[in-house]
Amino acid sequence: MYSRIAGTGGYLPQQVVSNSDLEKVMETSDAWIRERTGIVRRRRVGAEESTVDMAEHAARAAIAAAGLKPEDIDLIAFGTVTPDLIFPNSAVLLQARLGCKRGCPAFSMEAACSGFIYALSVADKFIRAGEAKHALVVGAETLSRITDPADRTTAILFGDGAGAVVLSASADPGILSTHVHADGAHADLLYCTGGLGRGKAPGTMPPGDFIRMAGSEVFKLAVTRLGQVVEEALAANGLEKNALDWLVPHQANMRIIQATARKLDLPMERVILTIEEHGNTSSASVPLALDAGVRDGRIKRGELLLLEAFGGGITWGAALVRY
Ligand code: UT7
Repeated sequence: MYSRIAGTGGYLPQQVVSNSDLEKVMETSDAWIRERTGIVRRRRVGAEESTVDMAEHAARAAIAAAGLKPEDIDLIAFGTVTPDLIFPNSAVLLQARLGCKRGCPAFSMEAACSGFIYALSVADKFIRAGEAKHALVVGAETLSRITDPADRTTAILFGDGAGAVVLSASADPGILSTHVHADGAHADLLYCTGGLGRGKAPGTMPPGDFIRMAGSEVFKLAVTRLGQVVEEALAANGLEKNALDWLVPHQANMRIIQATARKLDLPMERVILTIEEHGNTSSASVPLALDAGVRDGRIKRGELLLLEAFGGGITWGAALVRY
């Protein structure tokens, strides 16, 4: 028994924040942001929109693309670090919104930008074990709510959005393998100050907690770890680099993506890029890129895809997929 990607969906909030908009509120420039990151625009939620709201749009699109109905879904795995509530988890809220099977497992995974790959990995294993037939896998984030508007090293990078896939049980291999990793020794390089840890007085949830990132250290680790994990995914399947049709990378920085493509000897025409328009949407970035490539007809059934992500934790991972 295998799982295969039966449908994909994506959603972006309406508000567009361009590099020129950011130039007006912080010491930066359109030229610097383009050159150092590849980002031109990113999206931002309005005050009345949330992670689960966006996830609902992406999930409905993925379920429809799979030719299914919400009541067919029997597992929800949701990657996010910007949940609507501390609990119930975002997958449970989504289950009720969509009207999926009552009683089906629904859980979220905090693996930062690798959240979708982690969720995909777990959902795939449920299906392979025969414990689910149609799993909804979501990555959705409202990073704008945890980004310091005055911090030019992060405010230029992050955007909001949601992506989703439906994994269905299949006799033929779809997800060939997944590879997820973490190294908590680097937790201090990229983190959000929010949470309920030391220093928080009982009964308080202070606002103003933001992402903090040591950009160039994270950059170097991302290049190394992503280079390793894409080779690990190919080796685990006895496949050579030239078997790949598409790289569907986490959209953190164009230079990181180029380094991974070089490692795979893949021309940039074989890489699905959304970074220019979306910025870094953390766990939403891989499923949004996948959905973009599928919907514009570049990614075709039967092609071999390599999905990868790297994020705070640090966490990283990859999935090799026969689409
Ligand atoms: O998705 C999770 C994983 N996240 C990532 O993978 C992000 C990884 N990191 C990066 O993408 C890059 O490190 C950044 C885009 C964040 C920064 O690029 P960089 O090439 O590593 O720049 P840097 O931090 O080494 O800074 C270079 C210079 C500094 O000035 P000095 O010290 O050389 O005078 C910074 O102060 O650029 C300056 N700088 C900026 N200038 C204009 C930093 N941010 C900005 C900015 N606009 N927004």
